[in-house]
Amino acid sequence: MKGRITEELYRYALSIAKDEHPVLQDLRKRTQTLPGSHMQISPDQGQFMAMLAKILGAHKYLEIGVFTGYSALAVTLAMNADSAMTFALDNDQVTMEVAKEYWAKACVVNKITPIIGEALTSLIKLIENGHSNTFDMVFIDARKSDYIAYFERSYQLIKPGGIILIDNIFMQGLVLEHQQKESARAVDEFNHFLKSQDLDYCVTTIADGLTIVRKPHQGGI
Ligand SMILES: C[S@@+](CC[C@H](N)C(=O)[O-])C[C@H]1O[C@@H](n2cnc3c(N)ncnc32)[C@H](O)[C@@H]1O
Repeated sequence: MKGRITEELYRYALSIAKDEHPVLQDLRKRTQTLPGSHMQISPDQGQFMAMLAKILGAHKYLEIGVFTGYSALAVTLAMNADSAMTFALDNDQVTMEVAKEYWAKACVVNKITPIIGEALTSLIKLIENGHSNTFDMVFIDARKSDYIAYFERSYQLIKPGGIILIDNIFMQGLVLEHQQKESARAVDEFNHFLKSQDLDYCVTTIADGLTIVRKPHQGGI
C-alpha cells in the first residue's frame, strides 16, 4: 500500500505517469542494492516535488536528508535555470558519494553543494552565512527527533512565498500507535506543534504523508 490506494492502483498510477528520468531510474535500481533502500522517496513523490519546484519557479532548494540523492536530483532537474542551486545536507559521507555519482551522470553536480555533518549544525551555519529568506523550497527528511528544530531554522531560511515540505508525517501509520516508538512520537509531536502555530499549511496523504508549509508574503498572503 502507498497511502490509501491499493498496490494495483498504485502500479496503474505509475504506468500512466510520465516516465522517470533515466538517471533517476538508474539511481533507484542502484539504491535497491544498498542498505536502507526503503528510505528513498517514491517516483511519484519525486515527480510531485519536481512539479512544485516548477510551479514555484524555484531557483534555490535546500534538502535536509539526502541519502543517495534521489529527491535532490528530482528537484534540481526541475530547476533548469542556469542560476539554480541546491544545498544538500546529510551526515553520511558514503551515501553522499553515491549521490554525487548520479548527479554527475545527470549533469547537475555543479548545481548541488553537498554539506556533510549534523544537519542542525549545517542549518545554523547557513543562517550565520546570510542565507535567511533566500530559499524557494526546503525538504525535511532526516532525523525525526529534530523535525521541530529543522522546521524552525528552515522557516527562517525560506523566503516569503517559499515552501517547506516535511516527509513521513504518518511514519507508516506508527503515529497512531498507543505506545509510539521514539521517532513516531517525535513526528506526532511535530504534527501537533504545527497545528498549534498560526501558519499556512496543508497535510497531503502522498506516499508516507507530506506536509507543505508556505511562508506568506508581507501583508499575509
Ligand atoms: C530518509 S533518508 C533521505 C532520503 C532521500 N531524501 C531520498 O530521496 O532518497 C534520511 C537521510 O537523513 C540522514 N540523516 C539522519 N540523521 C541526520 C542528521 N542528524 N544529520 C544529517 N543527516 C541525517 C541519513 O543519513 C539519511 O541519508
